[in-house]
Formats: sequence, C-alpha cells, structure tokens
Amino acid sequence: MKGIILAGGKGTRLYPITTSVSKQLLPIYDKPMIYYPISILLFAGIKDILIISTPEDIRQYEELLGDGKKLGINFSYKIQEKPKGLAEAFILGEDFIGNDSVCLVLGDNVFYGANLPGILKKVSKNKAKATIFGYPVANPKEFGVVEFDNEGNVLSIEEKPAKPKSKYAIPGLYFFNNEVIEIAKNVKPSARGELEITSVIEEYLKQNELKVERLSRGIAWLDTGSPYNMLKAGMFVETVQSRQGVYVACLEEICWRQGFINSEQLKEIGMNLKQTDYGKYILSLLEEE
Ligand code: TTP
Repeated sequence: MKGIILAGGKGTRLYPITTSVSKQLLPIYDKPMIYYPISILLFAGIKDILIISTPEDIRQYEELLGDGKKLGINFSYKIQEKPKGLAEAFILGEDFIGNDSVCLVLGDNVFYGANLPGILKKVSKNKAKATIFGYPVANPKEFGVVEFDNEGNVLSIEEKPAKPKSKYAIPGLYFFNNEVIEIAKNVKPSARGELEITSVIEEYLKQNELKVERLSRGIAWLDTGSPYNMLKAGMFVETVQSRQGVYVACLEEICWRQGFINSEQLKEIGMNLKQTDYGKYILSLLEEE
C-alpha cells in the first residue's frame, strides 16, 4: 500500500501567517504540522509516501524530509499547480500508486490515541475497496457526516447537513483500492470548481463498497486549519508529552519501533541532534531498551 499526504492548499483561514509559508510546515508545538499525518501512514505500515504541495512550497518539504532513507522509508514529491481539490491527489499520484492500493491523509489532520496504530494496521490489511473513518463530534453540522449500520456499511454521506443523520464526522484519512485513480479521473468539478473527495467516496457508496471504521472517543482527532485550532492542537501535544514523557509523532521513534531502522541507525540520528530536546528524547529510547 502507498501513502499520499496533501500538503498544498491556500490556507486562507491562517492568513496572514500562510501568505509566505506553507500551512503544513507551521509548528504544532514542537514539530512541523506534516510530521503528524506522516506518523499516521507509518503506523499503518506504509513506507512509500508521496508528498503533494504547491510549486512554491514543494522544495521546502524536500529540504525538511529528504528522500526518507535515514528513516528506512521513501519520500517522493509532486507538485499540484493549483489547489484543484483533494481528489486530484489520485490523478497526480497515478504513477506513484502504480497497481497498489493507497491511503490519503490531509496534511493538516492530527490524530492521536490508544490503539490507533492497531486500527490503522487492521484497516490497511482488510479487503474493503474503500474505508473512511467516523469520528463522534459535538457539532456534526460543520463536517461531512457519515451514517452507517452495525456492520460498518455506509448508508449515507452528507456534507455539512442542516439535520445530521449521525454525530460521526469524516476526518481527512481515507483508504482506497487501485480503482480510485479511474474514479478520480471521472470526477467532475463541483460548484466551487474543485475535484471533491466526497465525489470519490460517493462512487464507492453507489457500488456498495464503502466501509466506515469508527474511531472511539479515546482517540483525538484535531483539525489545525485555523489559528485557534492550531493553538489547541499544540497545547494538546504539549500536555501529552510533558505529562507522559512520550513524544507524539516522533518519526524516528515510530520508524524504529516499526523495524524500519535498527537501534544503531536510531542512535546515529539521536547523536546528530543530541544538543536538542528532540535528540535527547531519541537517545533516551535506546536506554530504555
Ligand atoms: P482545506 O482545509 O480544505 O484548504 P486549505 O488548507 O487551503 O485551507 P483554507 O480552507 O484555510 O483555505 O485543505 C485540507 C488539506 O488539504 C490541507 O492540508 C491542504 C490540502 N489541500 C491540498 O493539498 N490541495 C488542494 O487542492 C486542497 C483543496 C487542499
């Protein structure tokens, strides 16, 4: 399975910060925002990751993440000329995806919580053609909302409904089989001129091939697209880290725990950063071993 992260967009809700800086490079507490969605793909066991961003910003992501070899994974990069919508990811990513299935995660979505890695592994291995997630929220009217039966079959999807049929919002994390490339190519732009991910999801729903995985309330799903939400997400990460002494979305740690790099390689990374708290944390993992 391949992984795609969408890290383009305009980030208008974060103006003026995003006038000259890409949103997903901004910090959520002590790491660039994009580390958090990358951690999700790593938990799903995905080692081949395509980063999509704007012509102006793509180079900065390359500088930040490189080719991934140090982490035992592969990062590739692709330019999205204009923010033409989330579904364009599968068209831009056609060669990268090849004959594989694919997981798309939006670059501004943060997930954290008990058993999340287990859920992601399960979903990445299941045979469903398409899986989205359902996350209980207090204000479903502001989200895409999914209604489903006891077996996790999706009954309906509604975008910002006046009368939501459930309290489950759809986060920016999607698993699709290879057919998604052709489906995306056939999506017509919406009234706002975008290739909507909802249109892709609806096609799977029409075919009766759409599953939903419920995320329990023990899992945090945080949006970071507005100044207030970004601050709250940063505070959440700080709270978890300082209270429990574990890092959220430390990519080096995750790759080590997943067996993508060995202790020697982790040590080398930690030594290069040993003057920083981040490096000290990495080295402390080896002491616990
Ligand atoms: P949005 O939050 O829908 O858009 P945005 O990031 O441009 O922000 P704003 O609404 O404030 O203008 O995008 C969700 C994620 O997807 C975000 O990480 C940016 C990314 N994205 C792309 O990479 N390409 C696109 O064409 C779109 C629409 C979004």
